[in-house]
Amino acid sequence: MKSDRLLLRGRLLSFKSEPQSPDDVSAYDYIEDGALLIEDGMIIKRGTYCDVVADAGDAEIVDHRPKLLTAGFIDTHIHFPQVQIVASWGAQLLDWLNTYTFPEETRFVEESHAAAMACRFFDLLTNHGTTTSVAYCSVHKTSANAYFEEAEQRNMRVIGGKVMMDRNAPDGLRDTPQSGYDDSKELIEKWHGRGRAHYAITPRFAITSTPEQMEMTGALVKEHPDCFVQTHLSENRNEIAFTLELYPEARDYLDVYQRYGLLSDKMLLGHSIHLEDREIGALAETGSRPVFCPTSNLFLGSGLFDDAGLRSKGIVNAIATDIGAGTSYSMLQTLNEGYKILQLQDQKLHPLRAFHWITRGNAVALGLEDKIGTLDPGTEADIVVLDSRATDAMALRMERATTLSEELFVLQILGDDRAIEEVYVAGRAQKGGSGQQRSNEAQTVSGVRSAA
Ligand code: GUN
Ligand code: ZN
Repeated sequence: MKSDRLLLRGRLLSFKSEPQSPDDVSAYDYIEDGALLIEDGMIIKRGTYCDVVADAGDAEIVDHRPKLLTAGFIDTHIHFPQVQIVASWGAQLLDWLNTYTFPEETRFVEESHAAAMACRFFDLLTNHGTTTSVAYCSVHKTSANAYFEEAEQRNMRVIGGKVMMDRNAPDGLRDTPQSGYDDSKELIEKWHGRGRAHYAITPRFAITSTPEQMEMTGALVKEHPDCFVQTHLSENRNEIAFTLELYPEARDYLDVYQRYGLLSDKMLLGHSIHLEDREIGALAETGSRPVFCPTSNLFLGSGLFDDAGLRSKGIVNAIATDIGAGTSYSMLQTLNEGYKILQLQDQKLHPLRAFHWITRGNAVALGLEDKIGTLDPGTEADIVVLDSRATDAMALRMERATTLSEELFVLQILGDDRAIEEVYVAGRAQKGGSGQQRSNEAQTVSGVRSAA
């Protein structure tokens, strides 16, 4: 009988540490004619093709030369119920939430809708090279169950949670302190640690949670210290002002979360743009992780994330799409816009650090670098195959590229889903596979009315 071993051949790039400069070759392993041997969803050997094939036995061999293999991308902040409101026009954060986002999320009470969207969501992620997502589901348990069920079917390592929100939101989109606690607890018991799933306790943000809900969230965090916690922080000036009105006793926005005991290295804080010095000190002290969401910050006009400022205090920043305020599922396009946001502040995002960030760097921010984010033997076989000549423009540019860093920068700036040749999740190829449910474009188009 044929074994279920798989050997992938191609150019391999895997990071060992965060590159400290554009030519920090000590931070990564690069093998020109490399191979990975995969068994039971795990990478069991990495090396030159000659070395690895000697141990491969009757493994199936897939030759991806001359494409580049890296660890699958990790998206550390994305809203699963917002897939159908990406590119909604005109508003900044609070209006955008009230006009588009909240009405859309009410639809996820329906099991069949949530299940259908979960399938489309994960198709989109893997087609863009993302193998791990950290998602906000809607307030409804149904949406979190749909998210985890679909991920489980695909054997993806995912993190997620139902949002808790008990005020400043429409009917059909509010829980209560007690039901938010009970539903989250039930979901933790069902999903946290099951297969490749982790639960994130998810108070949406200070504006949509009463102090009573924050109190119960703090209790939940205390009872489940190994769960992640995620929320939003200081994305927009009006949001900050409203938050401080709602929590007049708080020293600043972060203090709302801090006073309820939510901060730790398990805490992911989306945006974290307009921060006071005290807040930055508290982030550093508690090890909490700000999450940079470049396409979203530009789309909503939220502001410029101070990556270098936070890093200089020893803070570990993650990076993410923040779909549906984000405008691309692609972590490559996320890097592209991130590069420009940092340029505006005279900061640099060089390609080695960029590729480290969306793979091992985000894994480190999640404390999961022993499982995902590299091509190291003993880690899970979540792998992306990159084609740096995927478009005419990229191919033309690549005619003049001579170094790995140049090639990575072409991918970082010009790349998107077209540059994703193949994706492996726990060793199984995803692109164009039978699990894919393609979108029905004809139906979508016929549903669009002309503008009045
Ligand atoms: N703050 C609270 N909820 C959200 C959300 O859904 N998207 C963004 N970008 N910010 C938020
Ligand atoms: Zn968000």
